[in-house]
Amino acid sequence: MKTKVLAISGSSRKDSVNKRLLEAATAIARTQGAEVNILDLRELALPLYDGDLEAVSGLPEGCIRLKQAIREHHALLIASPEYNGFFTPLLKNGIDWATRPQEGFPSPFPGKVAALLAASPGALGGIRGLPAVRILLSGIGVLVTPGQMSLPLAQQSFDEKGALINGQQQKMLEGVVSELLRTVRVD
Ligand SMILES: Cc1cc2nc3c(=O)[nH]c(=O)nc-3n(C[C@H](O)[C@H](O)[C@H](O)COP(=O)(O)O)c2cc1C
Repeated sequence: MKTKVLAISGSSRKDSVNKRLLEAATAIARTQGAEVNILDLRELALPLYDGDLEAVSGLPEGCIRLKQAIREHHALLIASPEYNGFFTPLLKNGIDWATRPQEGFPSPFPGKVAALLAASPGALGGIRGLPAVRILLSGIGVLVTPGQMSLPLAQQSFDEKGALINGQQQKMLEGVVSELLRTVRVD
């Protein structure tokens, strides 16, 4: 059975550098034999989490779609920008909604494996946001792989085909993806 990876970006911006990094990682994962599906959080149109809304209306359709998508994949590949040293509210809101249980369908996170990426036009590449993603995911039962990658000066880092120009960075990304696929157990 192929390892199924769900790729999620913490930015849904049209020209997002995190989406570009995620696409580069996706290409590597496919080369290494995985099936990868990219999920755009914006398309889910999730409202900001609101317990009163949940009590009255239940889980929004986008939340159910997100939970199902996570459930149907073995692993998560997550790339997020850093906003003021933290990962994005878009990603946090999506994760919060997806942890909400519904009858017969608990949180889909326990037992999943995730690898983390970040990209930024700045010099630190968004690395300050990743420890918080790691803590969040670990707390909801996800095994986060030790390797991670942050890409500084990201706007100048891709060629016209979307591949990383710098060979060392490409190798690092390949390492993060291989570690993720090695860690996932597909029975
Ligand atoms: C509210 C806000 C805070 C930001 N804070 C940081 C930051 O702490 N570190 C950083 O490297 N970039 C920061 N940025 C710049 C983002 O890295 C930049 O907008 C980046 O392109 C966002 O990622 P994206 O291209 O994937 O959308 C911030 C941007 C916004 C909107």
